[in-house]
Amino acid sequence: MTRWGMIIVALGCAVSVRAVAQDVAAGEKAFVVCRACHQIGPTAKNFVGPVLNGVVGRPAGTYPDYSYSAANKNSGLTWDEATLQKYLANPQQVVKGTKMIFPGIKDPAKVNDVIAFLKTYKADGSRIQ
Ligand code: HEC
Repeated sequence: MTRWGMIIVALGCAVSVRAVAQDVAAGEKAFVVCRACHQIGPTAKNFVGPVLNGVVGRPAGTYPDYSYSAANKNSGLTWDEATLQKYLANPQQVVKGTKMIFPGIKDPAKVNDVIAFLKTYKADGSRIQ
């Protein structure tokens, strides 16, 4: 490879790593509104809403010792990324009768950032990055 080729490859890597880091950082900022009701991280406890550690990929209504609405518990949903994308835009529409009283985030890019942030937490509350 020519020297220029290597420089271009190196630049490409730097740019893509930065883009991912920005997503998570933006998601952390957007998550501020969720913190009114949800905790996340190693010391998280159920609060107004359930702990969100490891929520991406988790079946709805299954975090231990949280008192879910029947609507959520019986929704049959799994919180994969596509489902979260719809739910976080309009929780009441996706789970009719949910007790998550939150109007939703209307900007899909912002929702994506929040999902990127959620994905960095494993079920035990430790962080992947
Ligand atoms: C006003 C309080 C409130 C806010 C703000 C809120 N939530 Fe919730 N959330 C809840 C409650 C309460 C539930 C339980 C819903 C039920 O049982 O019907 C819930 C449930 C959830 C669930 C389903 C979890 C499970 O285990 O089934 C997810 C995912 C979720 N919230 C994510 C978020 C995210 C991300 C935000 C911010 C964008 C957010 N919530 C903002 C109160 C809130």
